[in-house]
Amino acid sequence: CPALWGGMPGSPSMATEYIFHKGVLFPIMNYSPETLSFVENEFQVRDDHVFNVTYPKSGTNWMLEILSLIRYGGDPSWVCSVLNWKRAPWMESQTGLEAALKYLPPRLLTSYLPIQLFPKSWHHSKEKVKIIYTLRCPKDLLVSLYHFSHFMHVYKLSSSIDVFLEDFLSGNMPYGSWFNHVTGWMRLKGNENFFSITYEELQQDSVWRICHFLGKELSEEQVATVVENASFQSMKGNKMSSFSLLQDKYIDHKKGNFLRKGICGDWKNHLSEVQSQRFDIIYRERMQNLDITFLWD
Ligand code: A3P
Repeated sequence: CPALWGGMPGSPSMATEYIFHKGVLFPIMNYSPETLSFVENEFQVRDDHVFNVTYPKSGTNWMLEILSLIRYGGDPSWVCSVLNWKRAPWMESQTGLEAALKYLPPRLLTSYLPIQLFPKSWHHSKEKVKIIYTLRCPKDLLVSLYHFSHFMHVYKLSSSIDVFLEDFLSGNMPYGSWFNHVTGWMRLKGNENFFSITYEELQQDSVWRICHFLGKELSEEQVATVVENASFQSMKGNKMSSFSLLQDKYIDHKKGNFLRKGICGDWKNHLSEVQSQRFDIIYRERMQNLDITFLWD
């Protein structure tokens, strides 16, 4: 029982504000075992669904913005008038599921779920449903997540980056272990309807490839509009995308920003040599069976 862990020797430092569902931690706020079970067992995936799947802090909202803009051929009206969490609801959260069920097809949905908790009905639509999986250098992701935990109430605050690092490496994190998430989803690499891309590649602008995967033909001009409107600065200046309108019960706006730095390699400013080496050891061990080389490797 996670609620009992606080104060127990050897307990995960972040356990008290989370629930355990099928071996995976989820924030208590906005998640429930009932919703998670519904999503896994009863949610009906349709052929025209497009899923934006990530582990948190991998570039979820950047991809969400790109997909929203591609949907309307680069026209920014939708991203400037509808909140991002309504444009592509996080289907496994309680409020996200409500929005997802009301969403008129074709649905664009976001998910942090590890593959084993993804809707089972997807298996019947595998030939058609498109899944876009975005990954990010895990050290940068960890640093981004650490900052995020300081202003988002869904995450429990860690006493130090050292403690946070250990929790990350051992998988005591909401949405489970990053290693399991990535190795689970990346098993689909090579499937026609699975497209994976890294945050680092997005920096180099890969909108063409995403359009091609979605079967959307955009002109050069339209692609340029997508890139421009999904830039860090544009998103920061757009209240529909910056999370500045997120309710205070979820976020302490005075303590931080969703759009923090938006750069690659920031981990070097936050992790010591020792911490980085410790990370590398576990990384090599956990990723050895995945026959993929990433930019950060
Ligand atoms: P940093 O905290 O390193 O700045 P997610 O959307 O998965 O929660 O990821 C958030 C991270 O993506 C944050 O990283 C945020 O700044 C970055 N990000 C969001 N939109 C971006 C954009 N358009 N360009 C670059 N980085 C972006």
